[in-house]
Amino acid sequence: MVRPVLSVKKEPTLLDDLNQALAGETLAAFRYLYLSKIASGISSLPLSKLFKEMADGEWDHASRFMERIIQLGGVPVSKPVEWEKKAFFSYSDPPRRGNDLKAMIKESLKLERSSLEFYQRLASKTRDTDMVTHKMAMDAMADEAREERKLTALLD
Ligand SMILES: [Fe+2]
Ligand SMILES: [Fe+2]
Repeated sequence: MVRPVLSVKKEPTLLDDLNQALAGETLAAFRYLYLSKIASGISSLPLSKLFKEMADGEWDHASRFMERIIQLGGVPVSKPVEWEKKAFFSYSDPPRRGNDLKAMIKESLKLERSSLEFYQRLASKTRDTDMVTHKMAMDAMADEAREERKLTALLD
């Protein structure tokens, strides 16, 4: 059983930040899964695979942040309508058709950059107050940076 960690000097907005992370990652996971299924046309296979990997990665982030919220005694966002309201990026409908791979990549790069900025802020905010969350934010940042590089490489 995971017990609440009481030694953390909690920032008043920390639980809200963590819920923003959970909401954003949940939507990102959904979006990348969707893109992985609709990507079509010549050379869509590597992109589709990358989107599927990214969907799994974001889902893993969602899982970690949800666990952290519970450890800190908070309540994870659970209503889908809240995911959209709380997410650290503004969600827009994914394209209906997957034949414009470049557009899909560019849109995803925007999402990854928003994630990077969000985790950068969270990491610096928690540096002196909450080592566990700080490390989680740093790890997520490294993952998003790796994904950003992979997407960029596909554009060349
Ligand atoms: Fe993520
Ligand atoms: Fe990502």
